[in-house]
Amino acid sequence: MIIRLVLTRVAGILLEASLVVLQSGVPSPCKSHSHDTLLQAAVEAGQAAGALLLRYAETGFRIEYKNPINLVTDADRAAEQCVVDHLRSRFPDHQFLAEEQGRYEDGTSPYRWIIDPLDGTTNFAHSYPAYCVSIGLEYDGRCIIGVVFDPSRNELFTAIEHHGAYVNDRPLHVSETKTLDSSLLVTGFAYDIRETKRNNLDHFAKFALKAQGLRRTGSAALDLCYVAAGRFDGFWEVRLNPWDMAAGSIIAREAGGRLTDFSGKDLSIYGQELVASNGRIHEAMLAVLNQAPSQT
Ligand code: IPD
Ligand code: CA
Ligand code: CA
Repeated sequence: MIIRLVLTRVAGILLEASLVVLQSGVPSPCKSHSHDTLLQAAVEAGQAAGALLLRYAETGFRIEYKNPINLVTDADRAAEQCVVDHLRSRFPDHQFLAEEQGRYEDGTSPYRWIIDPLDGTTNFAHSYPAYCVSIGLEYDGRCIIGVVFDPSRNELFTAIEHHGAYVNDRPLHVSETKTLDSSLLVTGFAYDIRETKRNNLDHFAKFALKAQGLRRTGSAALDLCYVAAGRFDGFWEVRLNPWDMAAGSIIAREAGGRLTDFSGKDLSIYGQELVASNGRIHEAMLAVLNQAPSQT
């Protein structure tokens, strides 16, 4: 009798313990089902906004100038409204940080959507088909979901934290390139290139002599996705904004990439500096970025 009681108690404790492990291992807001719901909503919003961009590209759009080289079009604004309306109707208490309209801070939800409705506006305005819709989701300050949709190529890049990255349902992996000498690198330049000394031209000149090839595509979000896909081996840029990096950074990380600032510290999307690579060439990239300025 006593033995049976002891055994029952032990079984009870083991059951309780395993329930605690299960509960603490999968906190409720991070359940994969809820991640799937969030991802699905972001995919729908991204695809709807992408279709809208293609319609504007076909039928025409108005351009305004934030400065002589910094454009915004009515397509940027319409795509942003489309994404925000879509996500707002699904998740009315969530917070938003969107490029064209800024911050919506109402609500105390730990979820925050970070949206670049048209990454690659200059390309779009010149009918150069390298632009995308970028939607990242933070939970308590950590990026948990990324969606980047390139409507011209119909490529949908997605990632959920700890669940890998995909392009149109194909898993993504960074490249295995080991040296800068055999690397294809990419970078970009901020719109204040004419006004600041931190304009990235010095880094560009150095990498031009070290890499196999260098590109400037004009869409930071796609550059990150291309690192994830192994199409580029590394990407660096200064003076980026959170909406340029939010979605692409989780996609690159989930594909096995390494993402830091120029000193090698883990990337903060609020920190402006970005180095994203396949990991293997990361230290070599940091070394170039930290070289003393050349005297010539
Ligand atoms: C720009 C693009 C570009 C990068 C700039 C960004 P926008 O974003 O991502 O590649 O070099 O720094 O501002 O204005 O086209 O959304
Ligand atoms: Ca952008
Ligand atoms: Ca933009």
